[in-house]
Amino acid sequence: MAEILINGNKKLTGKISVQGAKNSVLPILAGTLLIKGECEIHNCPNISDVDASVKILEALGCKCSKQNDCVTVDASCVTDYKISEDLMREMRSSVMFLGAIIGRMGKAVISNPGGCELGPRPIDLHLLALQKMGVQITEEHGFLYCDVPNRLNGTEIHLSFPSVGATENIILAAVTASGTTVIHNAAKEPEISDLADFLNSAGAKICGCGSDTIYIEGVKNLHATSHSIIPDRIVAATYISAAAVTGSEIYLDNVMPSHMVSCLSLFKESGCDIVVCGKRLKVIPPKRLQRIPTVRSLVHPGFPTDAGPLMITMLSLADGTSIFVENIFENRFRYVGELNRLGANIKIQGKTAIIEGVPKLWGASCKCTDLRGGAAIVVAALAAEGQTVIGEISHILRGYDDIVGNLSSLGADIKII
Ligand code: UD1
Repeated sequence: MAEILINGNKKLTGKISVQGAKNSVLPILAGTLLIKGECEIHNCPNISDVDASVKILEALGCKCSKQNDCVTVDASCVTDYKISEDLMREMRSSVMFLGAIIGRMGKAVISNPGGCELGPRPIDLHLLALQKMGVQITEEHGFLYCDVPNRLNGTEIHLSFPSVGATENIILAAVTASGTTVIHNAAKEPEISDLADFLNSAGAKICGCGSDTIYIEGVKNLHATSHSIIPDRIVAATYISAAAVTGSEIYLDNVMPSHMVSCLSLFKESGCDIVVCGKRLKVIPPKRLQRIPTVRSLVHPGFPTDAGPLMITMLSLADGTSIFVENIFENRFRYVGELNRLGANIKIQGKTAIIEGVPKLWGASCKCTDLRGGAAIVVAALAAEGQTVIGEISHILRGYDDIVGNLSSLGADIKII
């Protein structure tokens, strides 16, 4: 089993380019299923979740190829509508394929994605919306059988919570449905706008993304297109926090600062100076990081839950006590025990983390509990005195394109063993 080995407490310097966004590329790859033609998706990160998505597309009958950062998908001949249990297990986000398979084939069978490392992740909002559009859904032996007896119909949908995945699934189902779908209380994350930009470039009629009401006027057909994935704001936050905890000045290219307003303002509050020049950022750390009294994760444009582990890692080295309140996922603090192994002083009370800043962290043996928690441990280990060995790194590889190579190019003493 591969592990990451880090000899910490080294200054970083230099520049790296931020990869394309995992949370954009996955629904966009699902969206290629709706298009009878060859689509080119550029700026795709080289991560295992993309490989899993390509496997699903191929299992459904698509022809896929990958060259450098471009994934090509030809969905002219989709032959299947079932995602096997193995493929569903490989990636929870495969529920993202549901709306697209139904839109293309008029039926779908997937196993219920169930829980994951962040706690129970129900898909009731996805299913309620699809049912409202005319999908009949039955659940048997852990599988969801979805069938559209007539045509998918556009309708008004009010989400009781602005779920990212549900909003994307509704868009994917509605694009070729008959009539107009309106999503009220839709998610506003930038990755939703990226999905809409991709589909609109293929002939879809979607507007309102980025606001809480999205309109989708169904069209008969979509045509082949090419699209470039937006930069990954959570990966950018990961490298900013790596610079912050190691007291290093670094440059990041291929960043969309307008997607990161809440993140950037909190990095500034902790004492970091962030100089923005177009799509480039320069991170200038303070001598000692400052505490932030309270950080709350919220839906966009609030502070993203996925950047929580990175913020908590940074605050664990700050001067004073900070509070982090996790409002999106129930079970997001599993990595905290691992940070404490490195010398952090973090206590969890329900959905609140109380972070007493310490002056130093120390190398230890740790394991990843989830994707962003794993990245947080890497960041902490970069700052820690001595050696850290990190196990169960497959979590990290789901979402980070060559994190080891990138950090090593900045001067970190890091390798995969
Ligand atoms: C997406 C992101 C994930 C991010 C999250 C919140 C992808 C592939 N993943 O996940 O990285 O952390 O948004 O920004 O884009 N919920 C329900 N019922 C539902 C759907 C969601 O109760 O039908 C709840 C969830 O349990 C969770 C909250 O709503 O507590 C947010 O979930 P959601 O926005 O749907 O996140 P995902 O799409 O799963």
